[in-house]
Amino acid sequence: VVRRRVGALLLVLVACAPDLPPTANPGEPLPGLDSTDLARFQAGQALFDKVYSPEEGLGPAFNENQCSACHTSPASGGTTGFERVVKATRWDSTTSTCDPLTAQGGANVRTQATPRLRARGVERETVPKDASVGRFIPPFLFGLGLVEAITDDAILAAQDSADANGDGISGRVGRTADGRVARFGRKLEFATIRDFVETALLLEMGLTSRETHRETVNGRPPPRGADPMPEPEVGEGTVALLTEFVRLLAAPAPAVARSAAHADTIARGRLLFFEVGCVACHTPSLYSDLLLHDMGPALADVCGPAAASSEVRTELLMGLRHRDRFLHDGRTGDLREAILTHGGEGEAARTAFARLPFLGQEYLLAFLKSL
Ligand code: HEC
Ligand code: HEC
Repeated sequence: VVRRRVGALLLVLVACAPDLPPTANPGEPLPGLDSTDLARFQAGQALFDKVYSPEEGLGPAFNENQCSACHTSPASGGTTGFERVVKATRWDSTTSTCDPLTAQGGANVRTQATPRLRARGVERETVPKDASVGRFIPPFLFGLGLVEAITDDAILAAQDSADANGDGISGRVGRTADGRVARFGRKLEFATIRDFVETALLLEMGLTSRETHRETVNGRPPPRGADPMPEPEVGEGTVALLTEFVRLLAAPAPAVARSAAHADTIARGRLLFFEVGCVACHTPSLYSDLLLHDMGPALADVCGPAAASSEVRTELLMGLRHRDRFLHDGRTGDLREAILTHGGEGEAARTAFARLPFLGQEYLLAFLKSL
């Protein structure tokens, strides 16, 4: 059962790369880039690290003034443990649809305002009334080029939305608002890195990249004079280079075992990871099936265009040893607790993990800490 899901994704990876996906240290580009690609990667990184000022288009409402303010650690493209992006939505249970509360600024409730906006009486955006709120930590961007390269067909083949195989796991493909197969965002809202980058520029930093983009404050046009820059505030070149930087970031390499005993511990932990059913969702290689799973009420907050409040994309576990906050809202720094918080479709694996003898749990955790 598990093998069929895993097989679908593995096949694709094997087809694009003869061995395992190419890896490097966090923040490094894919190994073996030619000088042209390397130059574009570096130019993209400079933009990713660039601090934008209001004169360059930052704001009027924004969260941070550079991409790497949030995607910080252990290198540009990483995460931070303290930064949270606030999202607000409303789930309509009669129609079973998600209201993104766009007209009230729900997609991203921005916490900062430029001096011009503050001078007009706005210090920050406010959470719409009666909304469900989610606070998301920034994920690692390392290896996302590999995620983008996975074909729609491979993702579709892994879904089992009616749970036909009866394993209690019914992963569903995420869809963008216009119906494409999604890969990015915890609620699976975006199909391509480029689409995400454009949205990050607009929603996190208040930087428009299209003539048709409009700045908003709480979903409405900003007060007169708060945003004098004409659209677009950044050009096509900026979007293209940022996209390339993210696309060319290598997946972090797993740890090298310190000793034969350590290697043995990791190998036992890996085996248990398969045996207790973690791989039903955290498929090997990327450690995610890129599907939405109902994780139960404990992890429920905002909804997405194709995701109910309790549905979350399987988190990629690549580079886990470089992270210190876990789950989409970063609620814990304890891996054991992150596993024990799995409910809903993750309940069976959670229980199987909890039933392992203490040493078995330790092996499994040691395996996770080697990723
Ligand atoms: C204020 C903090 C913040 C800033 C600034 C920020 N991001 Fe993010 N980023 C996040 C959060 C939080 C998420 C997770 C969103 C989600 O899960 O829906 C994210 C997700 C992403 C993703 C998708 C990752 C995935 O696994 O699906 C990409 C790509 C990305 N950001 C790129 C950028 C780029 C490029 C910039 C600069 C233009 C940027 N981000 C600026 C917080 C930030
Ligand atoms: C039904 C699918 C499913 C199964 C089975 C499953 N997980 Fe998960 N896992 C998820 C999803 C979805 C998330 C993201 C939850 C969130 O971010 O709130 C996640 C998150 C995690 C995280 C947190 C990663 C991070 O960086 O935030 C860890 C660690 C983890 N899982 C380990 C495991 C282990 C170990 C098992 C087996 C005992 C397991 N999972 C079984 C779907 C699953």
